[in-house]
This record gives sequence, structure tokens and C-alpha cells, in this order.
Amino acid sequence: MALPSINPTTTEAWKKLQTNFETVKDLQMKDLFAQDQERANKFTITWDDFYVDFSKNRITEETFRYLLELADDVKLKAAIKSQFSGEIINQTEGRAVLHTALRAPKTADFKVNGVNVIPEVYAVKEKIEGFTNEVVNGDRKGYTGKAFTDVVNIGIGGSDLGPAMVVDSLQYYKNHLTTHFVSNVDGDHVNEVIKKLDPETTLFVIVSKTFTTQETLSNANTLKTWFLESASNEAIAKHFVAVSTNIEKVQSFGIDASNIFPMWDWVGGRFSLWSAVGLTISLAVGYDNFDSLLKGANKMDEHFKTEDFGSNIPVVLALISIWYNNFFNAESEAVIPYSQYLNQFATYLQQGIMESNGKSIDRNGNSIDYQTGTIIWGEPGTNSQHAFFQLIHQGTKLIPADFIGFVKSLHGNQDHQDKLTSNFLAQTEALLNGKTEASVVAEGTDEAIIPFKVFQGNKPTNTIFINKLSPESLGKLIAMYEHKIFVQGVIWNIFSYDQFGVELGKQLASKILQEFGGNPVGAHDSSTSNLLNYYNSRS
Ligand code: F6P
Repeated sequence: MALPSINPTTTEAWKKLQTNFETVKDLQMKDLFAQDQERANKFTITWDDFYVDFSKNRITEETFRYLLELADDVKLKAAIKSQFSGEIINQTEGRAVLHTALRAPKTADFKVNGVNVIPEVYAVKEKIEGFTNEVVNGDRKGYTGKAFTDVVNIGIGGSDLGPAMVVDSLQYYKNHLTTHFVSNVDGDHVNEVIKKLDPETTLFVIVSKTFTTQETLSNANTLKTWFLESASNEAIAKHFVAVSTNIEKVQSFGIDASNIFPMWDWVGGRFSLWSAVGLTISLAVGYDNFDSLLKGANKMDEHFKTEDFGSNIPVVLALISIWYNNFFNAESEAVIPYSQYLNQFATYLQQGIMESNGKSIDRNGNSIDYQTGTIIWGEPGTNSQHAFFQLIHQGTKLIPADFIGFVKSLHGNQDHQDKLTSNFLAQTEALLNGKTEASVVAEGTDEAIIPFKVFQGNKPTNTIFINKLSPESLGKLIAMYEHKIFVQGVIWNIFSYDQFGVELGKQLASKILQEFGGNPVGAHDSSTSNLLNYYNSRS
């Protein structure tokens, strides 16, 4: 069954929100807090080890009620059911969307075309576990009999960003293996990695759902050629493994059938880190930690599937984001983790959010006349406070932000943790309250400088406070954003699981590639022709 297709702007709830917006747009959040001592409690969700405070948003109880009505009006409940039941909700590619099956318990039943996929999922998980243990324990050896010391993940997009972000985020839990990620077709990337490698002790994990991606195949070939400078063809079987749906192409690359970790077309690339695409994660932190990551995600899945919308974290975050995107015309959202470990988190989310919801055609094939997909960006605090926070505090743009923090630090340095957390809390307070002219004056500020030191405040934030960064809590956090993406796609009436927008550039690049080296230049606009000729004449 298809997802319901409802233009959100035609719903009753949307009309109510439009009227509500006229009153709310000029309200000051600090007044709402002063008027209602219970505001923070009313707009906070505590679930498991998550404390999600969304009270510092430009919403009233009425707004919140209408947002929840919007979820009902677009039939979100039915859409969630369709997704979890394996219906072909990725209609433009004719596929089910079941990354949630990858983290479900063994007893679960997730059907694709009437067949339960869980036994297959667990067979691959067992393969990942066995392989991980052999490599980590040193039982699986390279062609000269030495244990592996380094793992190179070769992939791009969803076959790189998820594993790279998780390995970086969980570096506290890492074992002795050194991990590298090669993604860019820029040869300087792969060559910088090669400088650090010893062919005798390096394991290569080629990750490509399609096994046709130019970047990944170029990097894999370069690494294979480099490897074969020291090793024989037979050694490839010991050193190269692949994760793909395209078994035939992997085998023609020269990889042993036993070294292929399958995946399925019902797993989208940007939602695939839970599959064998996460093999490098498992190798880096051990299978048990990889499994905990999956278990955490599964807990969030259950929360998302069963919780009432008013206390359903991904649903609430999605609705608030719609409020700013579609009513306040906010163009972007920031994600600010107060943990250096989550350094790559915003970059990872960019693919998930922008590749999924950067669409302008609705589920009936018609052009959309309202805003979809948010632009997502961010960096860890406190570094970002010394970089772009000036614009969030005093710039002209409205930038709703998610602040993600952890109660406990991993290394247990309380002095640093208290300083970090004081900044984490202070920033959302400052964004809420701003600083009035009266208080600037009271500080004895030079009269000419007063306007520059005033902060308008009223800048919205969500605070996601988690007990501790662990594989399980990270799994919950990632799954939380995955479900937020889905909810927003349902509301915007778009297909979130295709990515045709990346194709055109790829096609033109392969044409242009043919025109290098003195071949006649085809029909281009004069700008592109000049650039091409400039390169041809100088390279
Ligand atoms: O950028 C487009 C895209 O198809 C992504 O969706 C995907 O994650 C990436 O390319 C890599 O694709 P593959 O895993 O097939 O190499």
C-alpha cells in the first residue's frame, strides 16, 4: 500500500497553525516562561536515558496541539505502520524501507514481499561477528602470516559517512585496530592514506551498495594496484572484503565469494550503517559494541512506533522543525553536540536529512509550493561558540538549534565536564532570554556602544540531554534523527527514500571525462567550455 498523499497545506490543522502563527510570531519566549511556571515540565519528554526539553521554542500549548493535529491530518500513524510493515513506501524505486529490521530482535517478523527477512539479517550479523572476532583476536592473518593492524573502509555517501561518524564517535570504545576512511575520488585522499599503510597488515573493506560508484571503484582499484606491488593475486582473498548487493560485480573485481557481506535493496544507503555497511564499526569497537548500537536504535524504534505523538521524541522534534521551516520561514537548523566525539555528527546528518528531504515534487508527482527539506549544519560546542555563534545570537537569521549534551563524561574529568555543561546550559539560556538594553546600561556601557551589546533573544533551541555517550545511546540518537526525517517527509508529502538529484552531475561528469586529453569539446555553455579548455590546456 502506498503512503497517504495529502497536501499538508490543505489540512485543517495547517489553517489553524497559520492563524496561530499570527499571534505567536511576536511573542517572547521569556514572557511565556514567566507566565507559566510549569512550561518546562509541560514541554519536556523523559524517556530511558534521554531528557528532551523543547520548552525553549516559540510555541504555545495551542501551537503544540495544532502541530499534533497536523500529524493526525496527514495520517502519520498509518504511514509509520506502512513503513514498519515493509510496504513499498519508496515508490519511485519500488522498494520497502526497512533499516529498522536490521536492529530488530531475532524473534521479530519483518516481511518483504511476504517473506520474513529477519533470518537473513541474523545470518549476516553472525558473519559480521565471526569475521570481527577473527580479525580483532588476530586469528585471521594477512598474506605473510601477520595479524591485521589497520582497516581501510572504502566507500562514499552512506557507505562512508555513517561508519566514519560512528567510529569517530565511539573512539573511547575502540580496540587496537587503526581505521582509515577513503571516500573522495580526489587521488590525494587515497594517497595520503596509503602513506600510513603496510600491505602485509592491512585489511580493505570495500563498501558499495551498488558496486558501480565511480569514487569507490577508483579508490578500490588504486588500493588494489598498490597492494599488488607487494603481494600476489592470491593474497587478495585474505586482504579484501566487500559489502554490497551486487554480488556479480564484486566477484568480477576479484573478491572471494566468502568475503562478501550481502545487503539488501530495502536498506537505503544513508540508513545502512546498521547493516554490514557497519562492518568497519564492528571491527573498530568489537561486535558487542556494534550490537549495542543496534539495540539502542531498536529501543528508539519501539518508542517511535508505540508512543503517543505528544511524548514521541522524533515526532515532536519533526513537528517543531516544520513549524520553523514552514511558518517562520527558517532556512536552516543547527545541530550542536557538546561532545568532541560527535565532531562528524552534523556532517553525517547532512546526507540523511538533505538527501532524503531535499525534494520539490509531491507524492502525486506535482510541484510543491511550500518549503521542504531543512539545511542542516553544525559543529561541536564549545568550539562553535568561538566560531559561528555570533550569527545565531545577533544575526538577522532565525536558526533553530538542537543542543545535544551528555551528563557524564567518558574520561571522568569533572572539572572539564562542569565547564562544558555550564556552557551547554548557558547558551540555550542566553539564546532564550537575550540581553536587554537596560541590563547593558546597568553594566555602565559607553552610550555609543549600547545597541551593539543588546541581544534580542527569543532564539529557539531543543535540548537533548543524554546520560552518557555509549554505543547504545548513540544508536538511539541516530535512530531519533532517522525517524524525524521520515515524519517530515510524510508531512511534506514527498518521497524521502530516493535521491535522483545526485544523478545529473554524475552523468555530466562522465561525459566531460571523455573530453579531457585533447578530445574535441562537445556542446556546452560557453562558461563550461572555457573551463574545460582551460583545464585541457594546462593539465
Ligand atoms: O550520493 C548518492 C548515493 O547513491 C548515496 O545515496 C549513497 O549512499 C552513495 O551514493 C554511495 O552509493 P553506493 O553505496 O552504491 O556506492
